[in-house]
Amino acid sequence: MTDHKDLKSYNAGAMLLHWAIALCIFVQLAGGLAITRLDFIPDDMRFGAYQWHKTIGFLVLTLTIIRIVWRLFHTPPAHAPMSRMEAKAAGLVQYLFYALMLLVPLTGWLVVSVSPTAIPTLLMMSHELAWPNLPVPLAWHGIEAEAVAKCFHTWLAYSTAALVVLHIAGALKHSIIDRMPSFSRMLPTRRLPRQSMSLFAVPISVVFAGLFLTFGLLVGRMESTQSIVPPSPTLTAGSSAGEWAVDTALSKITFAASFSGKTVNGVVSRWKAAIVFNPEALATSSAEISIDPTSISVDDTYVGANLLDTDGFNVAAFSVVKVHIDRFEKQSDGYIGHGTISVKDKSAPFVMPFSFTPEANDGARAIGTVSLDRLILGLGVQNDGGAQSLGKNVTVRFDLTAKRPKPPVV
Ligand code: HEM
Repeated sequence: MTDHKDLKSYNAGAMLLHWAIALCIFVQLAGGLAITRLDFIPDDMRFGAYQWHKTIGFLVLTLTIIRIVWRLFHTPPAHAPMSRMEAKAAGLVQYLFYALMLLVPLTGWLVVSVSPTAIPTLLMMSHELAWPNLPVPLAWHGIEAEAVAKCFHTWLAYSTAALVVLHIAGALKHSIIDRMPSFSRMLPTRRLPRQSMSLFAVPISVVFAGLFLTFGLLVGRMESTQSIVPPSPTLTAGSSAGEWAVDTALSKITFAASFSGKTVNGVVSRWKAAIVFNPEALATSSAEISIDPTSISVDDTYVGANLLDTDGFNVAAFSVVKVHIDRFEKQSDGYIGHGTISVKDKSAPFVMPFSFTPEANDGARAIGTVSLDRLILGLGVQNDGGAQSLGKNVTVRFDLTAKRPKPPVV
């Protein structure tokens, strides 16, 4: 046993890490319970609260990496005299703390990585600081896997809370009942001489933490800046029939929606249009557009990840998105088309204002927008049915260039 007078306190680095991690863990336990248990938190605040929960969780992970490196360079100063059982229990609590400080953030990371909602992790709510998910196989993604990971995360977090209580109770017993220095070992009071510090520990722990953060942020940035797949000219050649032959190389159909505070842009690359439109004979005008849903892409990996699966366009079961416009009206500044869009087994009516400008050589250009409610069309209902991250309105823009087909030579 160590004599009372030989006792030392931890060094400044260990103290700093201990209190920084302790503070973060308190914030995380309280914050985690608040976001999952308090129903009155408004939905628009909940998104930010989750982002901060994840940010501070990754801070705990980073600080724990530093703490482990620090520990490798410093043997902890000896305990005040205590029974063998107590010494064993104190040692066990310490190792359990290390395990939980790693496992709680890692299971939290697993929750968001397997979640079918694919909500991005934005450190400090910044799109510049996107953090990647764990590279878990796609087959593991889903509601069941998310529930299992949540269960582990929750119970490991509760175990951390229980261990904190034990840890504080042990320190209080030592101070108050045994009258031994306990808190002063971890407080900069100068009541005990300080343990010396290894100079190597500083750069090495900074390098390890820096590598972890830099690698994570680089992968996160690469994933979030993945660009829209450009339409391939050989694949996009839409055929047309009726009065107008649409030139798909000069035409485009794009769309946009809000997603976690920014705009996600998408493009439709393969489609066919059969358009009969005569400004002088609106009653006999109509348009039919068939879209290949596998050619729809977005400039955001998180939204893109679910675009074609069962909660998206479900391309395994449905091979076409149909747009039918059967009524046109003349307006003072253009036209309005009334139609129906069918996605999977759902249909929704829409109203489409557009301009129609005749061009040289029997050509014409039509530009317009349509606002669609993705939830009515069964898109992203499972992942974000409350439109907390992905806005429910999708604005589709089209810019079509067409020519009147030449009459066949008989
Ligand atoms: C020391 C670090 C952490 C602590 C102490 C902690 C603690 C907690 C607690 C107490 C809850 C509430 C559990 C419940 O009662 O349902 C929770 C929920 C959650 N945490 Fe953490 N957490 C940490 C790190 C992380 C990290 C790094 C992530 C993700 C990257 C994360 C993601 C989540 C998520 C998504 C939930 C909600 C789970 C649900 O909906 O049931 N956590 N956390």
